[in-house]
Amino acid sequence: MATEQTYIMVKPDGVQRGLVGEIIKRFETRGFQLVALKMVHASVEHLEEHYKDLKGKGFFPGLIKYMNSGPVVAMVWQGKDVVKQGRVLLGATNPLASAPGTIRGDFAIDVGRNICHGSDSVESAKAEIALWFGQDGTISYSRAVDAWIY
Ligand code: TYD
Repeated sequence: MATEQTYIMVKPDGVQRGLVGEIIKRFETRGFQLVALKMVHASVEHLEEHYKDLKGKGFFPGLIKYMNSGPVVAMVWQGKDVVKQGRVLLGATNPLASAPGTIRGDFAIDVGRNICHGSDSVESAKAEIALWFGQDGTISYSRAVDAWIY
């Protein structure tokens, strides 16, 4: 069984626009397994740590302000090649370049309001899962349906 995990987050605009269920549905119906989920209004310090690789970019202050403007839904999804496939489900960073059928391509227009986040590598997924679910961890459970998905 594949055990790769990725960190997926519905950003404040996705929560405000009522897209939490839609985003969960796309990962769930694809066959990926939800192994952690919580809602959190993250602090500026926490968000600066999450986006530390982007510190110094012109859009960084606005990004932190937007991400701190309301609660997010933090999730860990598991499955075969889920890091790469999660990025495919999300679509390109700039929604104007996102293909229709992707989350951003279907629901967003502006790069500064692009609804969702997904880890860009297995290494960053591990760091992001530790940052957002460090104390809580993830849940390990078997699903009968996996015999049909894999
Ligand atoms: P990045 O990590 O490059 O993209 P992704 O979220 O697809 O991994 O950027 C993080 C977020 O920063 C991105 O989702 C939206 C925001 N952002 C801007 O607001 N303006 C920009 O020009 C870029 C590149 C990103």
